[in-house]
Amino acid sequence: MAILDNTSLQLPKENPGAEDFLPLLGTDHVELYVGNAKQAAHYYISAWGFQPLAYAGLETGLKDKVSYVLQQDKIRLVLTSPLRSGGPINKHIDAHGDGVKAIALWVDDATKSHHETTKRGADSYLEPKTLKDKDGEVVLSGIHTYGETVHIFVERSNYNGVFLPGYISWNPHYKAPEVGLKYIDHMVGNVGWNEMDKWCRFYEKVMGFAQLISFDDKDISTEYTALMSKVMSNGNGRIKFPINEPAEGRKKSQIEEYIEFYNGAGVQHMAMATDNIIETVTALKNRGIEFLTVPASYYEDVLDRVGEIDEDLMPLKELSILIDRDDEGYLLQIFTKPILDRPTMFIEIIQRKGAKSFGKGNFKALFEAIEREQESRGTL
Ligand SMILES: [Fe+2]
Repeated sequence: MAILDNTSLQLPKENPGAEDFLPLLGTDHVELYVGNAKQAAHYYISAWGFQPLAYAGLETGLKDKVSYVLQQDKIRLVLTSPLRSGGPINKHIDAHGDGVKAIALWVDDATKSHHETTKRGADSYLEPKTLKDKDGEVVLSGIHTYGETVHIFVERSNYNGVFLPGYISWNPHYKAPEVGLKYIDHMVGNVGWNEMDKWCRFYEKVMGFAQLISFDDKDISTEYTALMSKVMSNGNGRIKFPINEPAEGRKKSQIEEYIEFYNGAGVQHMAMATDNIIETVTALKNRGIEFLTVPASYYEDVLDRVGEIDEDLMPLKELSILIDRDDEGYLLQIFTKPILDRPTMFIEIIQRKGAKSFGKGNFKALFEAIEREQESRGTL
């Protein structure tokens, strides 16, 4: 099923420094390893408005794991749990808690993608493998990236099934309305001390990415904590991977807290785009999603900083939605509190109105909000 539309295959060059030798057509799906996929699926359906799409488990012939696939517009999440003890998924969950295992990327040729990236130094995770069923075939391959996270290359042009061979369509009686999430805007990795440059070079060398922007600890620091960040992107700009590392501050930064609880590097947040952030965030709050808030004083001078915007300020203030501007326009964004018990992963909701940046002007207000949360956890 062609979920990602083929009309945009002409791949406009958004990041001229990047070399598109793969090329990457978009994010195919994100797979999370979770302790209880059945219950996690209910959460993403009822709270986040994802629609049930596909299923694989004992009933489909799997012996040791189960996966639920959910979809909202172009975003597909796969939630996978082990069915027995002691396997690799169990070890992953034991080490990291629930978290992102695979950022799967949509390509024309998964065999070539594997060859091109491993030839440039990537460690193979999955040799090219063809999966077939009555609906056609899919070729998958994979490489390792930071921590225990992997990239899977998905070639699906000869497939018409619901998700991947081996999955059946999943149509439970309970569904909840979508909340307007459209696509993955960016996926952020947290890496250890002094490892940001190493992983940026990895994306440069292995996948042909180029750096879009960098932020040092002067940009991203408060009185207490700091971090550094660089944004890597592929040539057509559809794949954006900011990489963060901790920086020295008076207290423990949120990146160190993440690394401690995740037991190493991993995905810190998924940013999901919407065309109407006020409606999306209102719906999510009504369904119980908790967001970081900023003090009311943030809104007193925000319009002096960002200039005129289309939205009324009042609903943005009531929802604690942040605003920032760059040379090309503005953006609206908000961040959830961690969506797990471990203070590790969270989700960003972003609406771009021309801006291609990541909300640098909000970093200070945002990190002060995170510090208040860390304080309450005793991890600051
Ligand atoms: Fe972000």
